[in-house]
Amino acid sequence: MEDIKQLIEKAGNAVKKSKHLVAFTGAGISVESGIPSFRGKDGLWSRYDPKYVEIDYFKKYPEECWPVLFEIFYSQMLKARPNKAHEVLARWENQGLLKAVITQNIDNLHQEAGNQNVIEYHGNSRTLECLKCHSVKTATQAILGEIPPRCHCGGVLKPSFVFFGEEIPHQAAMAAVQEASLCDVMLVIGTTGSVMPANMIPVYASRAGAFIIEINPEPGEFTYNIVDLFLPLKAGEALTSIENYINQSAG
Ligand code: APR
Repeated sequence: MEDIKQLIEKAGNAVKKSKHLVAFTGAGISVESGIPSFRGKDGLWSRYDPKYVEIDYFKKYPEECWPVLFEIFYSQMLKARPNKAHEVLARWENQGLLKAVITQNIDNLHQEAGNQNVIEYHGNSRTLECLKCHSVKTATQAILGEIPPRCHCGGVLKPSFVFFGEEIPHQAAMAAVQEASLCDVMLVIGTTGSVMPANMIPVYASRAGAFIIEINPEPGEFTYNIVDLFLPLKAGEALTSIENYINQSAG
């Protein structure tokens, strides 16, 4: 079994030599920013019923759903800040090394870290949309008032992220497939890979010949199927170690 230092060096060499590096991220990359993941030990779905994020249930019972949505997605998130892992990816995009981030996360932390090309496969929690007139408000303005937050037209506001039973935003879906087919190295960071159709993106990349590097303290759906290099580490530690290796071996 190669030791961690050798794995970091292997990952560093692949990232450094990549022509089209893409990162595919999940809830695990934001755990070190204080946002709990959905699955695994005390994950959100072990504490809350996912029905509150199911579109038909929400439309029927917004008054019941909104206090739970607030607790799950807004109480922590509005305080959360990007962590070291987000910051490395932002520096790599800035240096022209990282071409895109495809994220399942709705916490906006990649953008706050400075990444410009962020494909939000599940939308974003920062805005709310009226179910009646479809006008869009920023979450901070709307949710600091009544729960459930209402539009000036009286309609209930829904967070602009994808609920269970909703379509993936077409633009994001197409952009994600495009990046997966172009990339020669994909970093798969902090995801169980258990949710369709997001979990097909790394599969497409692998089928297109990309070298798949997974960063996760635990193995998941991808690890023994499409992953070429598994780094059993937390995102912050792995990405900083890879970045340090690349910077020291540069020149
Ligand atoms: N660094 C890296 N990975 C971590 C860390 C960490 N510090 N802490 C936990 N993880 C890993 C866990 O081992 C797990 O594999 O992050 C993963 C989180 O998995 P999930 O909670 O299933 O999150 P994700 O895969 O993003 O879920 C996908 O499910 O509920 C839906 O829409 C929601 O986008 C979400 C989708």
